[in-house]
Amino acid sequence: MKRRLFVTAALPYANAAFHIGHMMEYIQADIWVRFQRMRGNEVHFVCADDAHGAAIMIAAEKAGKSPQDFVAEIAAGRPQYFAGFHIGFDHWHSTDSIENTELSQDIYRKLRAADLIYTKPIEQFFDPVKNMFLPDRYVRGECPKCGAKEQYGDVCEVCGSVYAPTDLKNPYSVLSGAVPELRTSEHYFFRLSDPRCIEFLRHWTHDGKLQSEVENKAKEWLGTDDAATTLGDWDISRDAPYFGIPIPDAPGKYFYVWLDAPVGYLASFKAYCKIAGIDFEGFLQDPATEQIHFIGKDIIYFHTLFWPAMLKFAGAPYKVPDRIYVHGFITVTGEKMSKSRGTGISPLRYLQLGMNAEWLRYYIAAKLNSHVEDIDFNPDDFLARVNSDLIGKYVNIASRAAVFINKRFNGRVADGAEVTEHLLVRQLRTAGDEIAAMYDAREFGKAIRRTMELADSANAFIDAEKPWELAKRTDASDRLHTVCSVALEAFRLLTLYLKPVLPSTAATVEKFLGLPQPLAWNSIDQHLRHDHPIGIYSHLLTRVDPKLLDALFEPPAAATQDAPLPGGSAIADAISIDDFARIDLRIAKIINAEMVEGSDKLLRLTLDAGEGRYRNVFSGIKSAYDPRELVGKHTVLVANLAPRKMKFGISEGMVLAASHADEKQSPGLYLLDPHPGALPGMRVK
Ligand code: 2FM
Ligand code: ZN
Repeated sequence: MKRRLFVTAALPYANAAFHIGHMMEYIQADIWVRFQRMRGNEVHFVCADDAHGAAIMIAAEKAGKSPQDFVAEIAAGRPQYFAGFHIGFDHWHSTDSIENTELSQDIYRKLRAADLIYTKPIEQFFDPVKNMFLPDRYVRGECPKCGAKEQYGDVCEVCGSVYAPTDLKNPYSVLSGAVPELRTSEHYFFRLSDPRCIEFLRHWTHDGKLQSEVENKAKEWLGTDDAATTLGDWDISRDAPYFGIPIPDAPGKYFYVWLDAPVGYLASFKAYCKIAGIDFEGFLQDPATEQIHFIGKDIIYFHTLFWPAMLKFAGAPYKVPDRIYVHGFITVTGEKMSKSRGTGISPLRYLQLGMNAEWLRYYIAAKLNSHVEDIDFNPDDFLARVNSDLIGKYVNIASRAAVFINKRFNGRVADGAEVTEHLLVRQLRTAGDEIAAMYDAREFGKAIRRTMELADSANAFIDAEKPWELAKRTDASDRLHTVCSVALEAFRLLTLYLKPVLPSTAATVEKFLGLPQPLAWNSIDQHLRHDHPIGIYSHLLTRVDPKLLDALFEPPAAATQDAPLPGGSAIADAISIDDFARIDLRIAKIINAEMVEGSDKLLRLTLDAGEGRYRNVFSGIKSAYDPRELVGKHTVLVANLAPRKMKFGISEGMVLAASHADEKQSPGLYLLDPHPGALPGMRVK
């Protein structure tokens, strides 16, 4: 029975380039999709940018762009990754689209009709300068528990306690610095605590379709009896200004980004259906259709509770997901990845260095299993694994056999029973079902290990038969032909088993072997034929050069050569945060400023850095400032610079000013001036 599969990867936020974590998920899903297609199944594989929300709205504003332009620029940067890493999405869309607006509003209306939506007033911090309600992350203040300063509105990074933003002491808005006000606003809620939802979710999460560790999480969240149920209702609305989808019949209210994000799976699929001529609703309602989402472990809650409940109670034409395939995180040499900064390695740099995408696909596949486990990218391990498996084992088989077929047998293999029924070939053929089951179960590491065992057998066969010696004997021509033909048939089958992981190499091999059709699972029995001559062997894959890995981990050179910085000099060598912390920068008020007799460069500044005494600082800014205009201003002082004895007296520190590296080329000196509100003695960091 042919399967009908609708497969997605998690929608990435449209505010940053991809990092290695994104690539891992796309590679995992892509391998699975390619495998399913090789089995003859119908697969539609889509994704989209997750465009909405406060964070993107604010980032766009900072960049001086409309949110639409901002996310469009991010979207324009996506295809290079897909082409580069052979990620074969059928369609890429955006949650900021007509399809998503229509679908999200339709689902909402249906949930409202099912009596699962209600409103209630919520008290929340409001920024009176920006005129907007503040998401938790945009309020800071002192931790109510330990008093640590500069803590976010949801959790203290010092003592770890969790609280509401309204618990913070001396709260302020990260956006404007203003003291936020408490204001009330009507919010829309999805009634997740409704007995119908709880009952449905308990059943849906426990019927064996989820990975066991995911099922256990869901059990924790759902509880086992009503008293233990901790599920609260879900606040699905945000007030204007918000970059999102308007809630029907609710002026000024928008869907919270996490409501319309998963609907983006359907929106992307719907847009694709239009292009591909598929009946969207018919497809979803076909009982044979399987809806499958690949996601990371950090977004299980959304995908096992909210999303299935939304779909279930919205009803037709929607269907609840059939599978949620959850993976762990990828660390790089043990370093955890940050969602916003990624890790030390950039996928784009990987490609720019000319590194082969299939090395990474292979390495990631070899490490993946069906559990929610983290995997680590380790450069030494990467080099060893790729070079020994792909080059030393797999490619080696073709290079050892093809030369003789080309030179001695006019490019034609032997295809009699002595080849097609050879023990090695039979062994490889029989492994097909087992390897297929591993791919299907996302046990990619196992599939790779099994395939490499078979490659070992093939190499052992060649080692034992020694074709290079047979080639020297005049009486061993038939034997040589058989041995090399067996080896090439083994190579064909190994290529088939690796094809989900190495699609580009497999395509080259298909051409080289002169195969009449692309390799698929049903071509296991279609051995190489005598009447299809093979091509001339040339290197299929190169080894990983350790220098490339060094370059991958080096920070990119400062962009001074082709694009001079406006400052006229390259960025200095990197320092650590600890290095920086040794410099004590303080806000200082300029109490007095005057000319220095005998100096045409210096001004004498009297500064108040909140220490209960004044400092005397000489500063080379005479060319740029009339001393009278400086008095009363604030600036930034390097407060722990060792005092320096100068011709005119002792200078107790230094004030900060910006200038071009070459003053002749670009004169001008600009003293730093903090925003209003900064007080003498405040630390700058
Ligand atoms: O965590 C994230 O990166 C979200 N942008 C994932 C959204 S997945 C789906 F729900 F759209
Ligand atoms: Zn604290």
